[in-house]
Amino acid sequence: MSRTLSYATPFVPAFLAIGFFVWFANWIPQTRWEPPKAQEISAALTPVELAQIGQTIVRQRGCLACHTIEPGAGVKGAGRGPNLAGIAVRRAQGVTGGPDTQIGYLAQALYEPGAYLVEGFANIMPPSTSAPTNLGYEEAVAVIAYLQSLGKTPTVKVGDVPRPTASATSAPSAQPASAATDDPVAMFTALTCDGCHSLKAGETKIGPALDAAGMQQAAAERGISLEAFLMESIVNPKTYERQGFPSGVMPQDYGTRLNAAQLDALVRYLAAQGRRS
Ligand code: HEC
Ligand code: HEC
Repeated sequence: MSRTLSYATPFVPAFLAIGFFVWFANWIPQTRWEPPKAQEISAALTPVELAQIGQTIVRQRGCLACHTIEPGAGVKGAGRGPNLAGIAVRRAQGVTGGPDTQIGYLAQALYEPGAYLVEGFANIMPPSTSAPTNLGYEEAVAVIAYLQSLGKTPTVKVGDVPRPTASATSAPSAQPASAATDDPVAMFTALTCDGCHSLKAGETKIGPALDAAGMQQAAAERGISLEAFLMESIVNPKTYERQGFPSGVMPQDYGTRLNAAQLDALVRYLAAQGRRS
């Protein structure tokens, strides 16, 4: 017995060290998930792998603030931008009067959204290569692969897509000129939101209080995320009108007065209020 122990003694520090590392590895809090870096999107990825990355990018870079992806809902859909479900099929040959290949058209739709306007929609989409979307070239390829997957099997690989021209990447000139700020606290006052809304629970003005519980409940009633609910309420207040409040009183034109970056900032700010509970 004592013999076995003394035999094992030299290994004890090693066991302790291993034990420590196992414990330490488990103790490190799970690192925050980061979106894929442009350089990780390589020419080696298959179109299907690219499409998976593209799906995450579309979700995270705010495309769904304007676009829906709802099979069967038609091009119009319920968003400010076209419903992207089935886009690969309806743009299989590009568009008349624009690029006549699917990839060429999708690249143009991202780089220069104003070059071809989908019928019935306004020119409000910011070029995806500038703020606030800021897609790098490889990310744009991944997004195109994802768009191809909406109705067809993706085929695109890095290198198949033209690179954006200099004019599409020069962010400042591409951004709509707007004297207004995109500081949400300042906007809340400048846009007179505060005249009708308090951020404190139970403090009803002309409109409902934009407090955590109320907004979360309203979003849940609509069955959409808090961010989507806020975007909808600001851009399209008529879609969901809160019972017990005057209808049609909230200005209907914030969607045209605010650019995408400003809307995004305002939604994030209010959503952060909503989560603070
Ligand atoms: C601020 C609202 C807004 C945002 C944000 C936005 N879009 Fe758009 N998008 C539109 C509108 C409106 C149109 C239709 C007018 C046009 O063709 O430019 C459009 C058109 C498109 C089209 C062409 C659709 C068709 O039927 O031919 C594609 C593809 C597209 N967007 C993809 C995206 C992607 C991907 C993102 C995110 C990187 C994005 N959009 C972000 C509003 C937006
Ligand atoms: C003139 C008054 C007025 C102004 C200004 C106004 N709102 Fe509203 N808002 C209302 C009213 C009334 C409602 C409730 C009826 C409805 O849903 O349209 C409402 C509803 C909302 C809702 C949905 C809340 C819920 O729980 O259902 C949000 C979010 C919202 N407003 C945000 C804003 C923001 C952000 C601004 C400024 C950019 C703003 N409003 C400006 C009157 C106003």
